[in-house]
Amino acid sequence: MKIQKPRVLVIDDDISILDCVRLSLKNEKDYTVTTMHDPEQALEMIYEGGISTVISDVKMGKLSGLDILKAVREYDDRIPVVLITGSSDEEVMRKSIHLGVYEFLKKPFEISDLIVTVRQALEAHQLRVQNSKYKDKLKTLVLERTAELMETKAKLERSYLNTIHVMVNAMEVNDTYTLGHSERVTAISVGLGKVMDFSLEDLREIRIGALLHDLGKIGVMSNVLNKEQSLTDSEYDIIKRHPIAGAKIVDPMGLPKTVSKIILQHHEWYNGEGYPYGLKGEDIHLFARIVSVADSFDAMTSKRKYRSNLDYGRAAQEIYRNRGQQFDPEIGRIFYENRQQVLSVLTNKIALDDLLEEAY
Ligand SMILES: [Fe+2]
Repeated sequence: MKIQKPRVLVIDDDISILDCVRLSLKNEKDYTVTTMHDPEQALEMIYEGGISTVISDVKMGKLSGLDILKAVREYDDRIPVVLITGSSDEEVMRKSIHLGVYEFLKKPFEISDLIVTVRQALEAHQLRVQNSKYKDKLKTLVLERTAELMETKAKLERSYLNTIHVMVNAMEVNDTYTLGHSERVTAISVGLGKVMDFSLEDLREIRIGALLHDLGKIGVMSNVLNKEQSLTDSEYDIIKRHPIAGAKIVDPMGLPKTVSKIILQHHEWYNGEGYPYGLKGEDIHLFARIVSVADSFDAMTSKRKYRSNLDYGRAAQEIYRNRGQQFDPEIGRIFYENRQQVLSVLTNKIALDDLLEEAY
């Protein structure tokens, strides 16, 4: 492959200077020299590409050396521009330094100065090109690594969500009447969070918290969970411990703090009559107030041996009616007004998958 030599473009409207420069550089073997007396045509040549250094006079008819410098810097700031100046061009020199001129050649200049300046400018150009290639490579590398990391993070999240599903299934096996309850509560909670315009990160936390909200029941004997008669006070006390038990299980897992809050507070009531701590109003975490609505709605609409279930419409009315008592009034209202959208995922498996996929 033939290696193209660097090209130096010299611009001056004075043909005699151009001839002088060409003659001075004619023995230079490492680069080629092109001379142009029309600055506009010279600029067109620069825009065609392949120029490594520009040497330009300052005072020329249509375009000045400063115009050329500005245009070259905007086009490709790796190309060094050398300006040929007179002794009275101080203002021009000040402006061109500001614009990023590479070097000045003061008239009358020595041939040796011209040769050294051109060689240095070409070296600078080569370095700048190498540097920008290196930076581009680095940028691509960073982008690739970031994509790989994101992929690994997504894989890890999927894997630990799968583990969570296994834990939830293990818990629900214990309780015949709540099979699928955690999945439905998750779908309703995420649907509600979506209607409330929560961020993807928030939806992700709601999702995990809702899935695990009853995890503490894993420690409650199945004969208590499945009892057909009404519970004794002590049995009810055992059940009431499941939020604290659940939070204790997840605390060492390094999950977001909100997950533990959801588990711990999903049976708290807005008016302070819930358990385990009797927290009130906004002392209950917002996500727990959302899961509380979803949890109660699913409980009301699920069949139990000891009672019949409510249809969706009646259950939604119950939520609305209990605003300010059991439920956060605002969340109860939003749930009621958007119930069709929020609940559509329960009857549409694909929509549910999409919703949960988004909340990954
Ligand atoms: Fe619960």
